[in-house]
Amino acid sequence: MKKIAIVSRKGGVGKSTLTMNLAVVAGPSTIIDTDPQASCADWGDRRADDPPLVHTVPAGRVQVSLKRCQTDWLFVDTQPSAEASLIEIAQIADLCVVVLRPGQLELDALGATLAAIRAAQAQAVFCINQAHPQANLTELIEGLAVYYPVGPLIRSRADFPASVAEGRAVTEWNPDGKAAMEIKNYWLWLQEYLN
Ligand SMILES: Nc1ncnc2c1ncn2[C@@H]1O[C@H](COP(=O)(O)OP(=O)(O)O)[C@@H](O)[C@H]1O
Ligand SMILES: [Mg+2]
Repeated sequence: MKKIAIVSRKGGVGKSTLTMNLAVVAGPSTIIDTDPQASCADWGDRRADDPPLVHTVPAGRVQVSLKRCQTDWLFVDTQPSAEASLIEIAQIADLCVVVLRPGQLELDALGATLAAIRAAQAQAVFCINQAHPQANLTELIEGLAVYYPVGPLIRSRADFPASVAEGRAVTEWNPDGKAAMEIKNYWLWLQEYLN
């Protein structure tokens, strides 16, 4: 089982949204939701019996709860700001996906996330999410690539909030839409990176 942690010490960047969408596009997968806000768990409730299974687990209990997960992929959604638990989860994960939303406040907060990943000696990649549909982010991508590889952009798309509200992923909600295409592209890139 490959374990992927979705991280950022900034809130509202799209960690939970990406966790749900990557877990669906990945195929057989489990989500561990460690955020007391429980966004993935609420979304899972709206899916009733449809996979992926979402376990709500306190951050300090991720390691012991792994025994309950038997799918090919495990996605761990994390809470912002909790440094100690982020380091612990990053140590357990095979890869951390650092979610970043373009913006000065998000960039200002990035150092704290990168420090936790370094402290955990974890592997990481970036996911730029909620980019403006027309923005050219070449400079940002080049700057980030100094630290870790940067995957294909995910832009701000109405399909994300609309599908979450119905307990769906964008690939289920609007399979031919741009949001679905961007999630699929990011997932293909991530799989190639992991191989
Ligand atoms: N690519 C996107 N396009 C449009 N809205 C998005 C996108 N990603 C996330 N959102 C919205 O941004 C808000 C914060 O997302 P969320 O996943 O809860 O972030 P986090 O888990 O990092 O706090 C939510 O309202 C979500 O629907
Ligand atoms: Mg969240």
